[in-house]
Amino acid sequence: MGKVYVFDHPLIQHKLTIIRDKNTGTKAFRELTDEVATLMMFEITRELPLEEVEVETPVATAKSKVLAGKKLGVIPILRAGLGMVDGIVKLVPAAKIGHVGLYRDPDTLKPVEYYVKLPSDIEERELIVTDPMLATGGSAIAAIDSLKTRGAKQISLMCLIAAPEGVEAVKEAHPDINIYVAGLDEKLNEKGYIIPGLGDAGDRLFGTK
Ligand code: PRP
Ligand code: URA
Repeated sequence: MGKVYVFDHPLIQHKLTIIRDKNTGTKAFRELTDEVATLMMFEITRELPLEEVEVETPVATAKSKVLAGKKLGVIPILRAGLGMVDGIVKLVPAAKIGHVGLYRDPDTLKPVEYYVKLPSDIEERELIVTDPMLATGGSAIAAIDSLKTRGAKQISLMCLIAAPEGVEAVKEAHPDINIYVAGLDEKLNEKGYIIPGLGDAGDRLFGTK
């Protein structure tokens, strides 16, 4: 059974506040998203399994530890999920990166898939799907569906901000998934925007409108 984790680390919370601020421009928004992704990844990897190895230091043999678990894959949901990738792979440079292109139809709020390109060995990898916003949950659910259809077995979801509606929808559709967020907000508005949220993540990240 998957769990929902809200990261309350002071640095994550401080940076998230600046990300939310409407006066924060594209450059700072992008840099802070990257930093929060790194900090969240540091928290997420806390439980990764280790194994003991021997390493020769300049003066002696040390028993020391290295990562032992499955290899990782990072799967950004295009566009906005891209803003979290560099911050994650800074910590796990061997991770492979796949892409799922989805946009939310502004009228129906249903996700429309337009691109999928994944590492060939996704079934052997622990995958982290990234998207700053979990609103209705439609995009995350469709991305996870797409990954499972192609053989993925172990998937988690990492978002900056989630609405309770989106969290419930993902839990119902994919009860096996862990969901990691920096902020769990109040609700969605009638246009499917997270309240208070941060606005349109893709537009703020890439400077479009
Ligand atoms: C945004 C966001 C998520 C999605 C969340 O993307 O980045 O992917 O909406 O909404 P949902 O949970 O209701 O599906 P958008 O559709 O605006 O596309 P973009 O990233 O290309 O701007
Ligand atoms: N997508 C966004 O970018 N922001 C929201 O608040 C909801 C969906």
